[in-house]
Amino acid sequence: MKRTIITLLAVFSIVVGLTAFNQAKQEERPKNLKVLPKNISHEELENVMKSFNVALGVKCNFCHAPKANGERGLDFASDANSHKDVARYMIKMTNQINKKHFKHEHEGKIMNISCNTCHNGKTEPSTILKEK
Ligand code: HEC
Ligand code: HEC
Repeated sequence: MKRTIITLLAVFSIVVGLTAFNQAKQEERPKNLKVLPKNISHEELENVMKSFNVALGVKCNFCHAPKANGERGLDFASDANSHKDVARYMIKMTNQINKKHFKHEHEGKIMNISCNTCHNGKTEPSTILKEK
């Protein structure tokens, strides 16, 4: 009898543990991806976002709105910051340019452009109209 209870308790705690683990994983999944692949790994998403910071010379809060409930930190899923939608447009544009013009390899390296090709550490690349 005692053994049965111990076994039951062990099974129960494994089930509870796994459920909590799965919930934590679910919460980590991005909720609002409209351009990037929905199955992107956590690590890949982080690398893409860090590359945006470097390319534009900004921090995450340039595109991501603060949490609406007044808590510290950013609400990454929120679309309240309009720079996020500009960035979505830019991701699509960059993909299109690469697909159309830069499909080839050169000395084993895939030749393509990135945010940094134009931005080079600035939010607004220099254009004919606005020399900086
Ligand atoms: C240049 C703008 C820009 C910067 C800077 C930026 N992000 Fe993002 N981020 C985006 C865009 C755009 C999306 C949504 C992509 C989509 O719709 O597929 C996004 C989505 C995300 C998501 C997924 C949110 C969800 O639940 O859908 C996370 C997490 C995130 N960013 C974290 C970060 C972090 C951390 C940083 C700083 C290291 C950062 N971002 C910097 C533009 C930016
Ligand atoms: C072909 C060149 C080019 C590429 C590639 C490019 N951008 Fe841009 N981006 C621009 C130009 C030019 C502007 C300024 C537009 C304006 O001022 O109206 C701009 C503006 C922006 C802005 C608005 C900045 C502001 O001050 O409001 C964001 C955000 C942005 N780009 C993000 C990105 C991201 C993220 C990528 C990579 C996925 C990217 N861009 C790739 C040319 C480019």
